[in-house]
Amino acid sequence: MSSSDLLHPPQASLAPFPLVGRADELGVLHTLLDDAEKGRGRTVFLSGESGIGKTRLSEELAREASRRNWTVAVGRAYAVESGVPYAPFADALLPILRALPPATLATLSRGGASELALLFPSLRTDAPLGRPSVVIGDPAELKTRLFWTFLQFLIRYAEKTPLLIILENLHWTDPSSLELLHFVSRQIGSARIAILCTYSSAEREGSQTLRAAEHSLVGVHLATSLQLTGLPESATTELLRRVFGATEDTVRELAGMLYGSTRGNPLFLEQTIKSLVGSGRLRQRDGSWQGWELNDLQLPEYIRDLFLARIQRLSSAAHVVAELAAVVGVRVSHDLLLAVCNLPTDDLLSAISELRRADILLESTEEQSIVYDFTHPLLRETVHGELGQARARVLHARVAECMETYYGSDALSHASELAYHLVRSDARELDPKAIAFLRAAGAHAAARHAHREAASYLQTAFELAQRGETDPEQRADLIEELAHAKQNSGDFRSALALWYQAQRDASAAHALPRLAAIERRLGNLHYSQGRFVEALAHYDMGIAAAERSSDDLALAKLLTSKTTSLEALGDTKAQANALRDALAIAERLHDKKLLARVHRASALFYLWLGMKDRSTSHATHALEFARASGEPAEAWSAHWALAVLSALTGDAIATKHHLVEARRIADELHSPVLHLRVDEIEIEYKSSTGDWDGLAEQSTRSIALARALEQRTLLPRLLVYSGILSLGRGRVEEGKRYLDEAFTLSGAAYPDNRLGDVHTLVRVYAGMAIYYLTMGEYDEVMRCGLIGLAVADRSGYAPWSVHRLLPTMIEALFWKQDFALADFYCKRLRHDSERVGQQIGVIHAEVGEAMSAMLRGTTQPLLDKVIAAVDKMDTIPLAFDGARLRLEIARRHVELGDRDSAIRQLNIAFETLSRLGALSELERAKTQLRELDVRPRSRRTSNGTPLLSPREKEILLLVLQHKSNKEIAKVLGCAHRNVGKHLENACRKMDSHNRHEAAERARASELI
Ligand SMILES: Nc1ncnc2c1ncn2[C@@H]1O[C@H](COP(=O)(O)OP(=O)(O)OP(=O)(O)O)[C@@H](O)[C@H]1O
Ligand SMILES: [Mg+2]
Repeated sequence: MSSSDLLHPPQASLAPFPLVGRADELGVLHTLLDDAEKGRGRTVFLSGESGIGKTRLSEELAREASRRNWTVAVGRAYAVESGVPYAPFADALLPILRALPPATLATLSRGGASELALLFPSLRTDAPLGRPSVVIGDPAELKTRLFWTFLQFLIRYAEKTPLLIILENLHWTDPSSLELLHFVSRQIGSARIAILCTYSSAEREGSQTLRAAEHSLVGVHLATSLQLTGLPESATTELLRRVFGATEDTVRELAGMLYGSTRGNPLFLEQTIKSLVGSGRLRQRDGSWQGWELNDLQLPEYIRDLFLARIQRLSSAAHVVAELAAVVGVRVSHDLLLAVCNLPTDDLLSAISELRRADILLESTEEQSIVYDFTHPLLRETVHGELGQARARVLHARVAECMETYYGSDALSHASELAYHLVRSDARELDPKAIAFLRAAGAHAAARHAHREAASYLQTAFELAQRGETDPEQRADLIEELAHAKQNSGDFRSALALWYQAQRDASAAHALPRLAAIERRLGNLHYSQGRFVEALAHYDMGIAAAERSSDDLALAKLLTSKTTSLEALGDTKAQANALRDALAIAERLHDKKLLARVHRASALFYLWLGMKDRSTSHATHALEFARASGEPAEAWSAHWALAVLSALTGDAIATKHHLVEARRIADELHSPVLHLRVDEIEIEYKSSTGDWDGLAEQSTRSIALARALEQRTLLPRLLVYSGILSLGRGRVEEGKRYLDEAFTLSGAAYPDNRLGDVHTLVRVYAGMAIYYLTMGEYDEVMRCGLIGLAVADRSGYAPWSVHRLLPTMIEALFWKQDFALADFYCKRLRHDSERVGQQIGVIHAEVGEAMSAMLRGTTQPLLDKVIAAVDKMDTIPLAFDGARLRLEIARRHVELGDRDSAIRQLNIAFETLSRLGALSELERAKTQLRELDVRPRSRRTSNGTPLLSPREKEILLLVLQHKSNKEIAKVLGCAHRNVGKHLENACRKMDSHNRHEAAERARASELI
């Protein structure tokens, strides 16, 4: 008997093969479900060669999840669809989304159904498809919103029923799905969601993005990798035993041979066994299987050979249908297959049943229509591979033609499928059609923020256009579309080259309006790369073109864009002029959208300059026009600016109002990034008003979100606020950790780096200065302060220097008793603050001046002046700064022999510091009160125990072990001096006279 005897279609008489082996792998997968049930969602990547059993295992998992009443969503990627954005996600989730009543969908997506429909266009929702609103030119922000809405939907859905998402064959997936997968996987850590991804390890090598996503998720313990290898020989034996109901002795020899030739690959095993049965080599007689004597059996070496032989045995009609199904490449509906095959219905039906009998096609129903798929992806590849290039081209052309007719007027919404086949038809006469569909596919992808896919469609269109005659106008459009897509997908180098190409073409064709728009794009691109001078040159060329063609709208846009580069270069004068000109045009044109935009840009400009009145007036106008033109993003921006302004000027009511409004719009737009930016202001603002414990929680949450959203400029700023907060709460090490991270992330190590975000850098340096002030390292305060000032000066952003930097530096100078220099900075602080009308800075300057005079020699009138200035602080409120100063005031009262006034000041400070939760300063207040023989009410937690910091607890425990301070310092790896300080604090908190007493008391109260 030869190997050809094996190549028969299998018989239906065999029952489905049972699952063998894989106990360990199933264990891992069941744990995935167990964890997710407990609200610890995770992702597993399952990989291995083709046929190794990935799909089978995922099916087993799906069964188990269904048994536990989970919702299971299975999506597959196909080679054909690797350019279609979010294809496997759509495949997995559309059935679920479609099954939800519209009201439930609206609730679960919190009104974001239209965004979900943007992600999955074939989801028809009744919700009006809101026009995606533009947020200040940041495509990443828009994409984040989309992802965020989707994630929130999943999390809310899973609150009701746990959700298993299976994404199959990710080696074929589109880049956007991988981005979405990465985004979602990072944030399901506390959701009832489990994700299983499979990919073929042979193909994965080609997919860098897939590898990067897996690597990064595994690296942060959000995913597990599971690699499948062949089944062991014992499993092969078990499989034979169970399939044929035979004894181990009977099957042993065959099992050994099978194992040897298939190396335990289950697909190979299964197909070989089926062929043995199909050929009658193994046959059933009187209820038992016979034919086990196998001396002359030659097993095929490759599974492809098995498949190939099966295909070759098909009738010619069935063969053609298989070929066309392979060319279509995805699950294909009966109607489409009918259209593509162009066979009489009866012939098609008998061909299909032949293919099903031969275990080549699988039939299922999907939303009431019958669909077919290959029983195994390898089978499709084998069929397709056998076509040969010439025949493949012809068939792709035929499929494209039939599809176009089949879809009729709906063809454009299937542009990517059509383009795929047209391109593969490689027929020049079809090029114009291919270009049209590719451009449509590119536009669809871009609308869904799948810029890489868009770029790839448009690149192909561009290449086709290059090889034939194309209408110049169409060619110019195509170049610009491609440049946009490249730019949005982060390929700046190619984008730049394309924009230059577009610029040359437009110039040669004297197409001035086009040229003006292109120059603006070039300017924006250079700006985004930190090349401000080049950016300006392009804006100016654009301005010239717009002026020559009297294109006012373009001119106004160019002027507004230009201001951002001028801002970066610190040319405030030119910036003011450009904004003024842009505003004049916008007013002349009565263009509300443009007016909103120019006013918003002006509001921010004057905000950074600290010119409160102007900024307020522009922001108010921006708000009006944003409302009138229906531009929520511009309105958000205006509220944000107004919130900052009101906070800086101490207008608590207005601050709250604008924060609430900004939040409302962020909510409406489903934008986590805009929420974070509101958080930022809120945290900064609340830090001077109270409840630091609550605030610390809020900032921890915001930091986690900013990390997840990879916010490069926001994250360091949030870290700075948290750092300062921790310092105030007496958690110095934690504060330093936050500040160090902010320092690294912001690029502050290179303050001359023009790319660094000025607003972030100034705050990072202010944070560091405050840290050194806490540590009593005043020279370091001055060093950081001076760098921060230089950065702020370079850009003319007064608010940041007058708010934190200068006051911190002045205080350090007091400690250094360098009053002359302190006076100098006080003067500067007053001057800058008055120039920009910034109340907080003026009060700080007043306090500084009064303190400086008093510290040189205290007298009652000088002290009264300080008190008057500090009282003003409470009106802002600058509660923490005020309370700290009151401690100093109390000292001076004592110096002047006025114990009662000292106690009064200390009590006010004590109250404020307790309310804030400012532990380290609170301890100082207590000490001072004790020195005046007043017993401070010790601050206790709600259960009445004093608050010991974790470090203090550690140290007290070591004291109990009779360790000296020096030994403790060695154990904990910290400075000897610090151990002393911590013990001093602990003694105070425990009302103890020495370290031993403190430790004993802490143990007695079960604090350690
Ligand atoms: N442990 C197993 N026991 C029994 N049969 C198995 C086992 N694993 C897989 N099979 C069978 O082997 C065949 C191939 O498996 P499967 O389709 O899961 O492979 P795969 O890894 O998904 O391949 P591909 O990468 O090509 O999609 C299937 O028919 C499946 O039922
Ligand atoms: Mg598979």
